[in-house]
Amino acid sequence: MKDFLWGSATASYQCEGGWNEGNRAISMWDRYLHDNHLENGDVASDHYHRFEEDIRMMKEGGQNSYRFSIAWPRIIKNAEGEVNQEGVDFYNRVIDTCLKYDIEPFVTIFHWDLPDYLEQNGGWLNRQTTEAYAHYAKVCFEKFGDRVRLWTTFNEPRYYTFSGYLIGNYPPGHQDLQETVTSSYYMMLASAMAVKEFRNGGYQGQIGIVHSFSPIYGVDSTVETAIAARYAENFYNNWILDTAALGEIPGDLLAELYGRCDLSMMKPEDLELIKSYTVDFLGLNYYARVMIAPYTTGETTLIVNNKGKQAKGTSQTIIKGWFEQVRPESSQYTEWDTEIFPEGLCEGIRRVWNKYRLPVYITENGIGLYEDVTVEQVDDRQRIEFMDSHIHAVMQAKEEGCDVRGYYAWSPFDLYSWKNGTEKRYGLVAIDYEDGLKRKPKKSYYWYRDMIAQDQKN
Ligand code: FCB
Repeated sequence: MKDFLWGSATASYQCEGGWNEGNRAISMWDRYLHDNHLENGDVASDHYHRFEEDIRMMKEGGQNSYRFSIAWPRIIKNAEGEVNQEGVDFYNRVIDTCLKYDIEPFVTIFHWDLPDYLEQNGGWLNRQTTEAYAHYAKVCFEKFGDRVRLWTTFNEPRYYTFSGYLIGNYPPGHQDLQETVTSSYYMMLASAMAVKEFRNGGYQGQIGIVHSFSPIYGVDSTVETAIAARYAENFYNNWILDTAALGEIPGDLLAELYGRCDLSMMKPEDLELIKSYTVDFLGLNYYARVMIAPYTTGETTLIVNNKGKQAKGTSQTIIKGWFEQVRPESSQYTEWDTEIFPEGLCEGIRRVWNKYRLPVYITENGIGLYEDVTVEQVDDRQRIEFMDSHIHAVMQAKEEGCDVRGYYAWSPFDLYSWKNGTEKRYGLVAIDYEDGLKRKPKKSYYWYRDMIAQDQKN
């Protein structure tokens, strides 16, 4: 398929490094990881210095698009909103390098690295952050909108707010339903504000949002499970997708929250704005489905795998009184305890397309593995198998008529994986952190290149 975008995705904090270079402000992640003496992204994959080589490798790997995020702390220096020219220059170089190699830049405006000066002021619990974000987004459009045609406002607001405010395993590390609701609300309001800036500026191209998409499955077909699954669908998916695509926060979710939370921050003029500025497309990050059972007992918890790390996809979650997530037995799991369920991707695309009728991009999909990268070539056949089955699922949905326009592997090269550090590897290219950050394509890199070439013949 000629117009299909085949690419791979990164996030600024996870790949750039150069944390104190180019006049970059401190992000909330720098503060949190430094203060708690945790493995950090100070150097990460050193993409800040090696982006040219990395983008060239994407090109040589047959890819025609690169999804990356802009680091807010590189662009806006302080709470007064002053622009940092060195940060703008850096992303100009990244974008121009993409264009030189005929790689379509696909830009995420916010992938979790909030400037610390905003976090110190309440972060996404403070309405002022929405204003600061709208200003930052406008600067991005003004500086890069002449060359970037595909934008997304946020990466995974649901995952961000669940992790930071419900489960507490990401900064700021709270466990509070009210804060979860407030931060989710402000992020979705900010997303609509960015869409407004984009429309008002008359830029070419399209703007969407990226969602951590877990299609919900009920554990059985009882009425109790159907109700629990509906709560979960609202909380996991509709809260983001309905709000971004239809301009409506699901009414039954609001009705449920009404008795439990203070919703007075939801002003009528905000709801108008959300209604008026919906997105052009949906980006879905897919790792696994979520299986739901009715709530029985217990508190919101984090499920960790046998190495004590957070499992991706199967993480969490009990929402007290509403539902709980169960582990589908008899399924296959990765060594990080994520269920492998490609059918969920096809079914998920179908559901999203049938409901919203907006173009879909699979903005992340991949498998985290423990890998020995000292060998000459990592033989990552598990990754090849994983990608192959998931790409088939995407193609099936496309053949059925769903408007899917691209697929992005997470990730083009190994990255710093948040709380899982550098131990959990997702890359098509290995990075040897012990040996000068040398890049070495894994087997999957060549497999992906050949698969794309084959597809483009058709
Ligand atoms: C997603 C995030 C991304 C990366 C992958 C593995 O939730 O968007 O930053 O860590 O998971």
